[in-house]
Amino acid sequence: MPKSRATQRRLGQYWTPRALAEFMLEAVRPQPDWRVIDPACGEGIFLQCALERGVSCAVGIDIDPETLERARENLMPYGERVRLYLQDGLLPIHDPDPFWQGNYDLVIGNPPYAATGYRVSDPKILDRFELSREPEPEDSEQASLFEDARFRRGRRKPSVAIEVLFLERFFQLCRPGGMVAIVAPRGIAANRNLMYVRKWLLLKHSVRCILEPEAAAFKGVGANALTSVFIVDNYPSCQGDRAMLAALPPAQWNLSLYAPENERLYRMALLVQEVIDYARALRYQPRNEEPEDDTDEVDNLSDDDDSIDEK
Ligand SMILES: C[S@@+](CC[C@H](N)C(=O)[O-])C[C@H]1O[C@@H](n2cnc3c(N)ncnc32)[C@H](O)[C@@H]1O
Repeated sequence: MPKSRATQRRLGQYWTPRALAEFMLEAVRPQPDWRVIDPACGEGIFLQCALERGVSCAVGIDIDPETLERARENLMPYGERVRLYLQDGLLPIHDPDPFWQGNYDLVIGNPPYAATGYRVSDPKILDRFELSREPEPEDSEQASLFEDARFRRGRRKPSVAIEVLFLERFFQLCRPGGMVAIVAPRGIAANRNLMYVRKWLLLKHSVRCILEPEAAAFKGVGANALTSVFIVDNYPSCQGDRAMLAALPPAQWNLSLYAPENERLYRMALLVQEVIDYARALRYQPRNEEPEDDTDEVDNLSDDDDSIDEK
């Protein structure tokens, strides 16, 4: 029996248009040896696109048995390279082998949103997430002394929007240095009451790009969602990190990414790759390539210290 619209809305079931999934994969360029996971995979569009690009292993989780069955059918041609789990994506993966629990190279997807009131209040789930904590007030001494503690010390909120928990879940599943590419409601990037989420994201991870697909991107799939796409490197940000903010150009979302109508979208994906490569090149610049002047400055500083001691 086809699922009712109400059930679909309750579970936040809006399928990502293939062109958007393609765009995100084009931007992050998965390598053949990558393990990729979508923790709320729906019918498996992100996994399918990743497998078409040759990744060795694609893992999907969904809470809805019918939907997961469709993902199974769609991904059948890829045989052993696919693993699917029927469970809550916010909970540890039900697999006795620790290999499947985390350390994924790429965590990608479009998890459910709270627009229809989909919030999580189960304390067993909330306790697994830093973002379920009330942030410390900005001016509190604790907060300024221990920036990180802001996310742990506060009281647990009675309920949290599901997309906030999924955002953190994506990073829990990602290996250090891996990548997260996530479609989230635009409120994550803009709502005042989600400032603490943005701070957490910017402090703990390296946001490379925030892209805003045109409002019509999800029209064809029955949703009118305003979304943002976050592309993030999973290591702590460092001073001077920059992020690219851009609106995704209008496109015929139901066409393949490479149709001439989508040429601009394709060029945007290449631009994102450049931003990511550039940021990594800066981060991994070997120490001995630093200009010699820096060493002199350090020496000068220690001379100053000596002179203070002498007084
Ligand atoms: C917005 S849809 C996106 C599906 C797919 N990633 C895509 O982009 O087409 C969200 C999916 O999350 C699933 N879902 C809802 N709550 C979940 C939960 N707690 N754990 C895992 N999956 C969940 C829904 O069944 C739905 O398939």
